[in-house]
Amino acid sequence: MIIAANLKTNLTRKETKAYVEELDNYMKKNSIAQEVLVFPAMSSLDTFDSSVVIGAQNAYATKEGAFTGEIGEVHLEEFGIKTILIGHSERRHILGETQEMLVEKFNYYKELGYKILYCVGEPLEKREAGKEEMMEYIQAQYEGIDTEYEKLIIAYEPVWAIGTGLTPTLQDIEEIHTALKEKSKAPLLYGGSVKVTNAKEVLALKNVDGVLVGSAALYAEHFCSMIGFAEELQN
Ligand code: PGA
Repeated sequence: MIIAANLKTNLTRKETKAYVEELDNYMKKNSIAQEVLVFPAMSSLDTFDSSVVIGAQNAYATKEGAFTGEIGEVHLEEFGIKTILIGHSERRHILGETQEMLVEKFNYYKELGYKILYCVGEPLEKREAGKEEMMEYIQAQYEGIDTEYEKLIIAYEPVWAIGTGLTPTLQDIEEIHTALKEKSKAPLLYGGSVKVTNAKEVLALKNVDGVLVGSAALYAEHFCSMIGFAEELQN
C-alpha cells in the first residue's frame, strides 16, 4: 500500500527533519514494507537519509528560469527528489491552476521519469448535482493525463472532504474507486479527512490502494499508526 502525508504549509525545516526521523525509526522498528511518501513544504525540502520517500508538493514545468516564486527541476534534483504531487485541489481551486497547466506540468515531470501523485476530486456542488455530473467533472480532470504512465499514482480526494472532518461513506468511497479504476489501473489512494479513527476501514476497502493524509498526518504518531494499519492489512 501507499501511505502519503501532505504536510502543506506546515512544519519548518527543523520540524520536518524530526518528523521524517520519527517515521523512519517507526518503519525500521516495525519492518514496514509499505511505501511511505511525505510531501514537505518547499523550504523544508532536503536530503534525508530515510526509508521515507520525499516528494515535492509543487514545481514549475521548467529546469530553471525566470518564474518568480516557483522552483524548477534543478531544485528537486539537488535533493535527489523524483516524486511530485500534481493537481491537488488547493492548487486547482486556491492557486487557480487550470487543467492545461497541470497537463503541462504532468508531461514535463513524466518526461523526466518522476513518480507523479495526481489528484482528482469534486467540489460539493458537483457531488450534490448527482452521480452523472459528478463523474463528468472528475472525467475532465483525467483529460490530457497519461493514465498508463507506469509511475503514476492517483488520489481521489473529494474537495468538500479536505480538512473539513467530513468524509463520504465507505460505500461511496468503494463505489467511486471502482469506477475510477476503470479509467486507470494506477494505484488509487483515497484522501480527505483520513484520521487514525477511520484510516483502517478506508484502507480495507476494495480498490483503495492507500491514503493521502493532510491534517492528521501532522502528528507523526498518528501517521505512524496509519502506516501500521496498512502493514497489518497487507499481512
Ligand atoms: P486532510 O487533507 O487530510 O486534511 O483532509 C488531505 C489532502 O489535502 O491531501
